[in-house]
Amino acid sequence: MADRYLSFTGTAPGRFLTRRLGLPQPAVLRRWSQASPEFEGGVLHLTAGKSELPGLTGLKFPSASDAPAAVVLDATGVRDVEGLAEVHAALHPVVRSVAASGRIVVLGAPLSAEDHHQAAAQQALEGFTRSLGKEIGRGRTVNLVRLSDASAASAAESTLRFLLSPKSAYISGQVIEVGPAQEADVDWSQPLAGRTALVTGGARGIGAAVAETLARDGARVVVLDVPGASADAGQLAARLGGSALALDITAADAGERIARALPDGLDVLVHNAGITRDRRLVNMPAERWSSVLDVNLASVLRTTDALLERGTLRRGGRIVATASIAGLAGNAGQTNYGASKAGVVGLVRSLAPRALAEHGVTVNAVAPGFIETKMTAAIPLFIREAGRRMNSLGQGGLPVDVAETTAWLANPASGAVNGQVVRVCGQSLLGA
Ligand code: NAI
Repeated sequence: MADRYLSFTGTAPGRFLTRRLGLPQPAVLRRWSQASPEFEGGVLHLTAGKSELPGLTGLKFPSASDAPAAVVLDATGVRDVEGLAEVHAALHPVVRSVAASGRIVVLGAPLSAEDHHQAAAQQALEGFTRSLGKEIGRGRTVNLVRLSDASAASAAESTLRFLLSPKSAYISGQVIEVGPAQEADVDWSQPLAGRTALVTGGARGIGAAVAETLARDGARVVVLDVPGASADAGQLAARLGGSALALDITAADAGERIARALPDGLDVLVHNAGITRDRRLVNMPAERWSSVLDVNLASVLRTTDALLERGTLRRGGRIVATASIAGLAGNAGQTNYGASKAGVVGLVRSLAPRALAEHGVTVNAVAPGFIETKMTAAIPLFIREAGRRMNSLGQGGLPVDVAETTAWLANPASGAVNGQVVRVCGQSLLGA
């Protein structure tokens, strides 16, 4: 179901009327396209505090003139309240000039366990970022990237390229941690060339968008879905030059069957298949509970374990699991779904450091908010409208927004991004 309100507010009479009535005025977001892959307008580099990031200036982004498409504020050297005044001094004069759909990225440092003044100032950056995200408007986003140390400046290149591009249109108010640099050679135009990616639940919705986006980035894609969806999965795979795998991911031997289908190994595993069976707990039969837990969580655990243990997931591999803001905030009628998606977050946080140390594989999650799919089109009108508007960008996201986030996490150059749960929710008020 198209967002007619968004189309209406994009017209001159719509803008006039909604302004007069004091209604939300969501901006039409600028997204990636082949014809226009980058922002015009350049990036403005600013510093607050004494920066310890010599490497950052090495990142080559076109520098901005008077109307920047993006601003990067290096606040890694902010150690006290006086340093925070420099954050204000740096951004106060330029924030108005940032272009529509533009970006502000604040770079922060880890919180010190020894220096509580530094920790207070660095934590303050989170409240600052999230608040600016809520007020900035015009489709502009504000995110904080916390760098583990000075070496992370070069490790953050894939993250900055993503956040400073039209690909991150629906990500705002987020804090992303970047760890120490990991070796990687990457061709930025085809970062997944020569790599194999498997997308569960890839026949439709978000999974189909993920398959398309990974293929655009050069991956050979395997579209896995239930046998009942094999016609759609087959057509998509054929269009993308990949293959389809008809398999119910809850099968006890799903991991082995995937491994057999991929004798040459796998580089990117996207756990996207998911179901809802909503009911309040008082009315929820055990079967509704177990089916959701089985698809959304148990099968993710089983296949992850099987593919890591067998070595099917090669070194340099990437696991991207799908959580949900319902797993972070909770949602009435979704105790089963909320539990399963929170479980995915637990899996990611626990496994990430070990998987990287033992297998050279990163493990991250995307947590979508309200995404325009068949699933959300079926929600009753008023609840759907509330879901769409209750975020800083005043609209639902598109499947491609989750797909672009997945592609960034899957990038060979994103090895320093590990154990993160990245919300793709337009800074939803739920669980904020
Ligand atoms: P969808 O229902 O359109 O697509 C899900 C796909 O998974 C379908 O093709 C389905 O056949 C497949 N699938 C289901 N059970 C399977 C199984 N046992 N084995 C293999 N494949 C199976 O869902 P949508 O909206 O594209 O969601 C994708 C993921 O994103 C899910 O994990 C969902 O929970 C999550 N999500 C979606 C949100 C939204 O707003 N649409 C919000 C938050 C999370």
